[in-house]
Amino acid sequence: MEVKETVIRLMTRLAIEHKAVNFSQGFTDEAPVYDMVWSGVAAMLGGTEEGVRRLDSMTLREILDAQGRAGSNSLDLTLKELLEGVRNPRDQLNQYSFPFGIPELRHAIADYTEAFYGHRPDPEEQITVVLGASEGLAVSYRSLLEPGDAVAVMQPYHELYPSQAEIFGFVPRFVTLREDRDAGTWRLDRDEVRSVVSDPRVRAFVVNTPHNPTGKVLGNEDLSFIADMCRTYDLFAITDEIYEHITFDGHRHSYLAGFEGMADRTLVVNSISKTGRSTGWRIGWVISPPERTRRLRAVHDNLVVQAPTPLQKGAVSLLRRERTFFEGIAEGYRRKRDLLLGGLRDAGFVASPPEGAYYLFADYRDVPALAGMSPTDAAMHLIKEVGVATVPGDNFYATGNEGDRYLRFAFCRSMETIEAGLGRLRERL
Ligand SMILES: Cc1ncc(COP(=O)(O)O)c(C=O)c1O
Repeated sequence: MEVKETVIRLMTRLAIEHKAVNFSQGFTDEAPVYDMVWSGVAAMLGGTEEGVRRLDSMTLREILDAQGRAGSNSLDLTLKELLEGVRNPRDQLNQYSFPFGIPELRHAIADYTEAFYGHRPDPEEQITVVLGASEGLAVSYRSLLEPGDAVAVMQPYHELYPSQAEIFGFVPRFVTLREDRDAGTWRLDRDEVRSVVSDPRVRAFVVNTPHNPTGKVLGNEDLSFIADMCRTYDLFAITDEIYEHITFDGHRHSYLAGFEGMADRTLVVNSISKTGRSTGWRIGWVISPPERTRRLRAVHDNLVVQAPTPLQKGAVSLLRRERTFFEGIAEGYRRKRDLLLGGLRDAGFVASPPEGAYYLFADYRDVPALAGMSPTDAAMHLIKEVGVATVPGDNFYATGNEGDRYLRFAFCRSMETIEAGLGRLRERL
């Protein structure tokens, strides 16, 4: 199998080249959560637990006094010069730490999971800190499956799922979400699910909810069905829950591992990428049944050793934030969704309102300038002629031709960026 650059990242490269408004890759252009950033910075500069505590409470007066600069031209010092003076000459927090995650972060993950889903995973036996959900998926795959095994993947999909499966020599099998235009939602094709998961080679089911790219939030009925399939056919579930806090219009994220009989067959993959607006930090985690953890950690340790120590400290601060912070995340995205949805509909796109996550999967066939084009041609036209970058819909499908009508728009950008993109659509499309 040829391992290629992902199309999503390719579209981002083209967006830069053509100075297009980038609706392609799922990362924000807004600042990450400050508490998290500060804790990462404090870990890097403070160097030790004691040093971090000192920095957390240090005032400007204390810094200047300590540097013998009080009263001098200290107001002209740059922040960089000032902070150099508070650096700890001793260090621990920029060095290797536990391969499977600093204890403080694993405890924070356990508390956070309990607070939202009522299940407390054991930090010693069940939680492994990894490099984002991407590595979380890789180590989950490799710890559960052997080459030649098959894995059920929801389609349309994040290209990570089938690509990683192929890198490891697994066979991806696809179960399709189909748009129900009249109901304005997406539905899992249950007959297809039954037929795929009853194949004895299928050993795991990757479940992504809230879903990228359709915005579908699987409800309890769908998840009960999936749980039933996993129990009946003795499958593992690997859940990708990174959009857990981004749900709209009364939809709520449910935790598949909490369904009957699922705790010992579910690997939960999560990360701070979306919740902390910090896709570049590469901090994630996997919650695994205890008997699966040893192998998972061994794969992780051998491949990457560990996630960055100081950024794990930042993740602790994020996950320990008050509940209202997490509950408030969706509202900002809802406004962005509504803005983009309205603008795209005005331009002739047809789309069911996303129930969660931050993507709009829009049918472009009724947009006069794009009608009759393949998704790649439509996306190239939008980048080159209109100055708006999207991702071609067929990139999210392996079988059938249902993707040929869609383009994916990410609405995780600032309102101004979204307005700018819509302005270009209005003027140039
Ligand atoms: C569904 C899904 N899973 C995983 C990822 C990658 O997440 P991470 O940055 O935590 O590796 C993304 C990124 O957009 C995604 O949309």
